[in-house]
Amino acid sequence: MNSADKRKSVKRDYDLIAEQYGEEFGSYIEDLDIYDEFEKYLPKGGSILDLGCGTGRTYAHFSKKGYQYVGLDFSNKMKEKAFDLHGEFPYIVDDIMNVKAHFDADSFGAVFAVYSLFHLPKEDFEQTIVNIRDLLKAGGVFLLSYQKGEGEEFVDEPYLKEEGRGILYMNYMDKSYVDKLLKDNGFETKYEAEKHEEGEGVIGEDGNDAVYVIAKKQK
Ligand SMILES: C[S@@+](CC[C@H](N)C(=O)[O-])C[C@H]1O[C@@H](n2cnc3c(N)ncnc32)[C@H](O)[C@@H]1O
Repeated sequence: MNSADKRKSVKRDYDLIAEQYGEEFGSYIEDLDIYDEFEKYLPKGGSILDLGCGTGRTYAHFSKKGYQYVGLDFSNKMKEKAFDLHGEFPYIVDDIMNVKAHFDADSFGAVFAVYSLFHLPKEDFEQTIVNIRDLLKAGGVFLLSYQKGEGEEFVDEPYLKEEGRGILYMNYMDKSYVDKLLKDNGFETKYEAEKHEEGEGVIGEDGNDAVYVIAKKQK
């Protein structure tokens, strides 16, 4: 399967689970500590681009606080559920790989990409880091999360209850690889946290280890 097919399969999966995902996570912020940390780096009223914005919880959180927000996600169903939950808001339906077609360089103070970039194959992840650097203003910040580990796999999707089928595409990454990639693209890491997650609705048989990084684009 090539990269485009892997991404296409992820889109199909989120179209299928949008309703359940939105009911469980559409309004619930599970990582408030990370959001709060990110906010320390945001200029008042600044602009946030949310990549893989899903059912709108980040919009609900940050728009209330006066930030300008635009989300991008390739699942139409996630968008529909987001609008059901939060009303309409700036939301582009497209693949993260096409993000530069929608915005000028140096146009955002912040990019947010939590629980989304782990669905990108390695070469697409690397290109996305370059694209995010280009879209951020100098001094802008980038919050990303990724799953710690190595290689890629298709995992069971908890909501689809198709145990053993392995359908949802995941890419795991090593910390030194991500740190180097960020550094090579002119980012300075400002904050890092790790969390182990397990239980119902969490991807992976034994749960997974998520890493959160806040990185600042150097001037
Ligand atoms: C686990 S959800 C997270 C949603 C949101 N960030 C949140 O924290 O609730 C992953 C989201 O990333 C989106 N996504 C994954 N790969 C994408 C891609 N290549 N282009 C656009 N959206 C993508 C999915 O459609 C899905 O809405």
